[in-house]
Amino acid sequence: MKKFNIITYGCQINEYESNKFRETLQNLGFEEVDDIKRADLVLLNSCSVREKSEEKLLSRVGFVRSLYEKNGFPKSIVTGCVATTEEKKIKKIGKDSVLTILKGDEPLNERREKIFNILIPVSADTMTYERTKGKPFEFVPVMFGCNSFCTYCIVPITKGREKSQPLDKIINEIEALVKAGTKEITLLGQNINHYGFDYGNKNGLIELLEEIDRMEGIKRIRFLTSHPADFNIETLKRMGELRHICPHFHLPVQSGSNRILKLMKRGYTREYYVSLINEINGLFRDVSITTDIIVGFPTETDEDFIETKKLVEEIRFDKSFIAAFSKRPYTLAAKMDGQVEDKVKKQRLNELLEVQNDISLKKNRVYIGKTVEVLVESFGNGLTFGRIPQDKLVIIEGKAGNLGDLINVEITDADFIHLRALPV
Ligand code: SAM
Ligand code: SF4
Ligand code: F3S
Repeated sequence: MKKFNIITYGCQINEYESNKFRETLQNLGFEEVDDIKRADLVLLNSCSVREKSEEKLLSRVGFVRSLYEKNGFPKSIVTGCVATTEEKKIKKIGKDSVLTILKGDEPLNERREKIFNILIPVSADTMTYERTKGKPFEFVPVMFGCNSFCTYCIVPITKGREKSQPLDKIINEIEALVKAGTKEITLLGQNINHYGFDYGNKNGLIELLEEIDRMEGIKRIRFLTSHPADFNIETLKRMGELRHICPHFHLPVQSGSNRILKLMKRGYTREYYVSLINEINGLFRDVSITTDIIVGFPTETDEDFIETKKLVEEIRFDKSFIAAFSKRPYTLAAKMDGQVEDKVKKQRLNELLEVQNDISLKKNRVYIGKTVEVLVESFGNGLTFGRIPQDKLVIIEGKAGNLGDLINVEITDADFIHLRALPV
């Protein structure tokens, strides 16, 4: 039997797409292996959000080529965001080991059909779109692409313009998942507040959430990623009425300096962002707020950075994904004057991480002694792993419940990443 290996870089959209490619390859009779050296085919699903992610992909393409030249296998299929813009580089590095390149802005099913047709030249009608059944939680993309063009970001180029999936298609997919035993659904979109905008519906997201919330059997609903500028208060209020929305909001702020936010073209001010968070805190009990931050954006001064640090201390995020600004091709920020030295970026990154980790630790320790509900996601090394509605990872002593169970546990300890618990 032919063997394949999949390597996924980047965001949950890529995770979702990789799962779909996995199904395609399994439908073709391929067997998955962990070791790239044993595979006949390696599918590389790439990310270009930072220079480093692109470098990682290209070096992996080179590694596959070296194996191919030595052993006659594996070959690679390269897809995702780097594939959209860097076809030439991939071909140059991978040479004959590259079976095909599928650009990341092509619709997923077209890419799956192409794989099918390359590997078995028969009609794609025979493809089955069944996914592996009954995972405790699943990601469901509701839209692809992005129209926001933040000045640092390559995603609108690699993924193209926003395209919402039809409501009935999403509902059918989620109904099938819930029927198969999935308890938690995370809706995905680069700017999920724009869901439905391309169909002329400004209330697309809340209408979709309301429909899912009514579904029999659904226990938890999440959605990613919200754009602060596009989150209207009316939507937020309607969300507050829903029974299954998790009290967790991922709201990338990117910077605490109004001057930098403007250069980033984020479309909101620091004051507006704070008022949005206050509104959320008023509507949801025990809510957790996470964010993305970029340090060292062109022209960022010490004062701008201090504004960001102060904002982190004021909001007290549960978690921040902090990145040093990386110049990306085709973006406006890459060409801006006043690029910040790498050394300074690194310093700011470490300083902010320290501030955030301390806050995360304190916020996590508040849970000690509390009984919380965990969705059981996996087991290993005599431990049970799961998440609370606030999206914090819990490690439970022993085997607690079964996969997909919602169980109560008592939090006994916490560090800045995890909560530790005992079953009650
Ligand atoms: N759509 C989401 C949003 O509105 O923020 C996130 C998408 S982006 C793929 C994920 C995160 O990567 C961003 O929030 C940003 O913090 C970071 N990012 C994007 N471009 C970057 C760059 N050029 N350098 C450093 N970080 C970047
Ligand atoms: Fe990138 Fe901005 Fe779109 Fe997010 S909203 S994907 S940061 S352009
Ligand atoms: Fe990366 Fe593309 Fe996702 S750039 S973060 S894989 S949309």
